[in-house]
Amino acid sequence: MVDLVSARHPTIKRLRRLSRRRSARSDEDGPTLVADALDAPVPVEEVVAERGCPEDLLDRAAGAGATVRRVADGVLARVTATVTPQPVAAIARFADVPADVAARAAGPLALVLVGLGDPGNAGTLLRSAEAAGAGAALFCDGSVDPFGPKCVRASAGSVFRLTVARSTDAADALRALSAAGLASLATVVHPGGPAYDEVDLARPVALALGSEAHGLPDGVAARVSGVVTIPMVGRTESLNVAMAGTVLCFESLRQRRRLGRANRLDAAPPQAAGCTEP
Ligand SMILES: C[S@@+](CC[C@H](N)C(=O)[O-])C[C@H]1O[C@@H](n2cnc3c(N)ncnc32)[C@H](O)[C@@H]1O
Repeated sequence: MVDLVSARHPTIKRLRRLSRRRSARSDEDGPTLVADALDAPVPVEEVVAERGCPEDLLDRAAGAGATVRRVADGVLARVTATVTPQPVAAIARFADVPADVAARAAGPLALVLVGLGDPGNAGTLLRSAEAAGAGAALFCDGSVDPFGPKCVRASAGSVFRLTVARSTDAADALRALSAAGLASLATVVHPGGPAYDEVDLARPVALALGSEAHGLPDGVAARVSGVVTIPMVGRTESLNVAMAGTVLCFESLRQRRRLGRANRLDAAPPQAAGCTEP
């Protein structure tokens, strides 16, 4: 039996609160993303649905132990931060993973995001990283909240499947990745390092990407084992960080495929292969 609750119900107030601020918890919306969360090892606590929500999704959520509530049409558009209203929202609890746990889950590839300010860029990077076989991403030095609604949406569910550490110090992250056996590379525009197709990206590697405005801080550049650059022609000063990270992730996958080492992709769960546009 599913309760029909009003816009003043405590769950709806909680959803509104979570939707608007950085928090130990985060909300997410859209049937596809709620399904992604149910597929992942993420405890989904509550699901709130309007009439357009697929019934089988609500059955699955209830079967997974979530409390399912119904609200009148239009309530979710008022309380969540989505641009396109969705007929379902969920509240899930994310584990805070320390840097060493994320580093051990990296497999062939990890991202170290340093001071990234745009959640759309961060989510896009998570999506590309997972598609290229990465196992982990470490959010460092004031980067956006990976579990904020915009980043979760832009990740198309990858944030649920990667091991993600947040609020990490970049020096700690690089130490942990090195201890886990990964080389770390600073991705730099200026003064420029070896070209991406001349650097060994087939070995286990962590790519450090810098902020949209300032790039990587000097402290990070001094702690990595190498640097890498995507050579550019024309008058563009730099690439968008999500574009640069995507190119580098797929150069890593290209090099691994040439050596027959794309195994994490082969082992990825089925939903990782499809298009999960929210
Ligand atoms: C918009 S850029 C930062 C621009 C900043 N003004 C600078 O000069 O570093 C943001 C990040 O994207 C990555 N990036 C952008 N273009 C790149 C390129 N051509 N090669 C390697 N990384 C690049 C780097 O990680 C960089 O820190």
